[in-house]
Amino acid sequence: MTILAEADRASGEESMEWIIKSEELDKSFGNFEALRGISLEVPAGSIYGFVGPNGAGKTTTMRILTTLTRPSAGEAWVAGHSVLEDRRAVRRAIGYMPDEFGVYEDLRVWEYLDFFAACYDIPENQRKALVGDLLELVDLSHRREEMVDKLSRGMKQRLSLARTLAHDPQVLILDEPASGLDPRARVEIRELLGELAKMGKTIFFSSHILADVEDVCSHIGIIEAGELIMQGSIDELKLQLMAHREIVITVLDHAVAERVRSLVNNLDRVVAAEIITPKNGRARVRVDFAGNDLELGELSRRLVADDVLLLGFNEEERDLEHMFMRVTRGLVT
Ligand SMILES: Nc1ncnc2c1ncn2[C@@H]1O[C@H](COP(=O)(O)OP(=O)(O)O)[C@@H](O)[C@H]1O
Ligand SMILES: [Mg+2]
Repeated sequence: MTILAEADRASGEESMEWIIKSEELDKSFGNFEALRGISLEVPAGSIYGFVGPNGAGKTTTMRILTTLTRPSAGEAWVAGHSVLEDRRAVRRAIGYMPDEFGVYEDLRVWEYLDFFAACYDIPENQRKALVGDLLELVDLSHRREEMVDKLSRGMKQRLSLARTLAHDPQVLILDEPASGLDPRARVEIRELLGELAKMGKTIFFSSHILADVEDVCSHIGIIEAGELIMQGSIDELKLQLMAHREIVITVLDHAVAERVRSLVNNLDRVVAAEIITPKNGRARVRVDFAGNDLELGELSRRLVADDVLLLGFNEEERDLEHMFMRVTRGLVT
């Protein structure tokens, strides 16, 4: 977000630190606008989670970045190459894993990788070692003679990921790599993405589940109905969302709660305050607070100074998913 934008301006260079960058991408299918003004900034070396509900436009965006679809308007660059002008160079720089696993059922695991390595013009005498390395990386060495269609979904996803690595691309574009997997297989994919990032690859991957990307990503972009509604590093997004902290104040009864509500409503940094359902017979007030810790301490001091008997003064722990829900529900502006 702002910090990245400023760094970009300061460097005075066009798109050097963004390994993927798009400017105002639009895509229409007939009258339907699937993408509206998508401007992505994916820093080199990042693990960028591209998150949004089904139908938001994730696959369409990825198909543009991989040169499989042309945008109706706008432009994008991958590893410095234009997706409109220099499609071959873009394709060389990326490994793309589509959301559907292709049908190559009558191949063995090693043959499948050997086939794709051959497609990338890797000489025959190098392919054996390469296939061995790739299988080891995705932990499928013990399945090398297995027929591809006998693999579990999680293994197929890992095999598919290995395939995108055959030509040692700088950038991986992975469309919902964890979709349809059981929790254990999701963790395995996540760990694998972390390893690939350590090898210096930039990973741009999509998911419709925010919680899925939170642990592994350094950056996030959130797309909804064809528009990018947020983008930045995880830390920046958390900070931005944290500007709206949720404090629950517990007091003896409803009358005290009323007094607390009207009191805090007049204080700086309080965005809103409302009485919520009692818990264990105690009245509670929830405060949407936009201040730092010092200001939060000040808030509790004011209550005490006004003779409010505080039974509880707690900040709700919130994960990214929860905060995001509040933002998109319009609770936070
Ligand atoms: N070839 C196409 N023709 C018509 N509509 C399409 C086509 N591809 C995608 N769409 C529509 O564009 C929207 C975005 O689709 P998609 O990019 O696949 O979303 P996501 O991957 O986020 O689920 C959806 O409403 C989808 O129905
Ligand atoms: Mg999709």
